[in-house]
Amino acid sequence: MSFPPSTASGAMKAFRGKLHFPIIMVCAIAFISLLYTERISIILSSNPFFKVKSCSKTNATSKNKNRNATLDKLRDTILDDRFEFDPEECSIENGKWVFNRSIEPLYSDRSCPYLDRQVSCVKNGRPDSGYRYWQWQIQDCTLPRFNPEVVLKKLSGKRLLFVGDSLQRGQWQSLVCMVESIIPEDQKSMRRGHSHTVFRAKEYNASIEFYWAPFLVDSNSDEHIIGNPKERILKVDSVAKHAKYWTGVDILVFNTYVWWMSGYTIKSYWGSFPNGEEGYEELEAPAAYRIALKTWANWVDTNVNPNKTRVFFTTMSPTHMRSADWENPDGMRCFNETKPYMKKGFWGTGSDKKIMRVVSEVINKMKCPVSVLNVTQMSNYRVDAHTKVYTETGGNVLTDEQKADVLHNSDCIHWCLPGVPDTWNEIFVAHL
Ligand SMILES: *[C@@H]1O[C@H](CO)[C@@H](O)[C@H](O)[C@H]1NC(C)=O
Ligand SMILES: *[C@@H]1O[C@H](CO)[C@@H](O)[C@H](O)[C@H]1NC(C)=O
Ligand SMILES: *[C@@H]1O[C@H](CO)[C@@H](O)[C@H](O)[C@H]1NC(C)=O
Ligand SMILES: *[C@@H]1O[C@H](CO)[C@@H](O)[C@H](O)[C@H]1NC(C)=O
Ligand SMILES: *[C@@H]1O[C@H](CO)[C@@H](O)[C@H](O)[C@H]1NC(C)=O
Ligand SMILES: *[C@@H]1O[C@H](CO)[C@@H](O)[C@H](O)[C@H]1NC(C)=O
Ligand SMILES: *[C@@H]1O[C@H](CO)[C@@H](O)[C@H](O)[C@H]1NC(C)=O
Repeated sequence: MSFPPSTASGAMKAFRGKLHFPIIMVCAIAFISLLYTERISIILSSNPFFKVKSCSKTNATSKNKNRNATLDKLRDTILDDRFEFDPEECSIENGKWVFNRSIEPLYSDRSCPYLDRQVSCVKNGRPDSGYRYWQWQIQDCTLPRFNPEVVLKKLSGKRLLFVGDSLQRGQWQSLVCMVESIIPEDQKSMRRGHSHTVFRAKEYNASIEFYWAPFLVDSNSDEHIIGNPKERILKVDSVAKHAKYWTGVDILVFNTYVWWMSGYTIKSYWGSFPNGEEGYEELEAPAAYRIALKTWANWVDTNVNPNKTRVFFTTMSPTHMRSADWENPDGMRCFNETKPYMKKGFWGTGSDKKIMRVVSEVINKMKCPVSVLNVTQMSNYRVDAHTKVYTETGGNVLTDEQKADVLHNSDCIHWCLPGVPDTWNEIFVAHL
């Protein structure tokens, strides 16, 4: 069995083969109707005509002022705030992973009740544990230690919403698990919906939410995932269907990447074709991605008031399907890896540079300030930290037989939790 020639097709295989199952959010039909009624009542009970002022009047100078004002305001709300870390000064990309056996992860897949089985690697039988004891050390700065109480204080009175795909869901679950243990049972709740799931910390009047929109833009494969990428059609000029859930939020964190890597072209349509979706064009993935991201950027610039809302974008989460990338041609995708690959600046074929360039270019032209959580470089080193065969498919943990077929069944896209997304969150909260 030979490896697929590129990660793009590798990822495609993974999607066809199994990912359409684990990616589906665990949901109960009963929750769906609940979700929609509840959402509608929330929208109606607050002002339905509430419109934030647009960003269109700000320019580069006032953009920085806004950012300072927002930062200052946020800083003022924090009691215990001694940051060595300055997001304006410290580059989170330059650093190294340092092994430290005394690290105590803040949760485990047994202690945190909110983790999906998909990422609960220990529960699913992963035998090695070294991957949990690596710390990202930034070259010139020290990352503040994650303190759940400080983080909850920062979030108090606020809604934080993660929007994106299953990698983003991993980051959301990680954050929930990192803070939930200090909250008494009767002071927290989790309401799972089909697309929108809300964790609430009552005594802090804070919520940490997730909204499923794997492409950010509207597609025919959002609520009901279409397994075959060739049948997915994206409306690259519209976020309307999803974006109505993004208003009135205090902190928005977006991502979108891996779903774009399921083939060389993406079926895209825009405007209103008389024949609807049938009027699609096959665009090369980076071209379609650019239009979609501009659609998203335009929504942010038009609808987000930067004085009220902070916007973040998490860069691509690398996939590790091709072990030759890290000089292990006999490896089985990422299956055999138990240590990070340390070669400085390592960048595998599972992180598309064209897509990264689009992200930089689109965000740099935006009127609203967007903080980029550039996690790609640090995550590139972590060939050891994926769920591999210690995951589930179609709601069931892999059978021993499936586990034995490591070449086909190793998931080298998603991350075990606790794990790498915890570090993304340490960086994220240091920006708040
Ligand atoms: C940018 O904003 C400043 C003050 O808010 C104003 O003086 C300046 O003319 C603006 N520049 C542009 C290009 O609009
Ligand atoms: C923003 O704050 C930094 C220091 O935190 C300062 O150097 C810079 O001049 C400020 N920018 C504006 C536009 O006020
Ligand atoms: C290892 O982690 C422990 C606990 O977080 C910390 O006290 C110690 O300073 C760390 N050691 C190094 C070398 O960073
Ligand atoms: C709780 O937070 C929301 C924003 O998420 C705010 O609108 C509301 O006023 C807050 N309630 C209290 C009691 O502070
Ligand atoms: C943001 O706040 C500043 C100062 O408080 C104000 O001048 C500016 O108009 C506000 N911007 C928007 C878009 O509301
Ligand atoms: C990788 O793991 C497989 C399955 O355990 C094993 O058969 C193989 O020898 C390992 N390969 C390398 C290069 O370590
Ligand atoms: C993220 O960091 C990489 C280097 O680690 C850089 O090439 C890329 O341009 C950065 N992306 C953005 C959006 O800033």
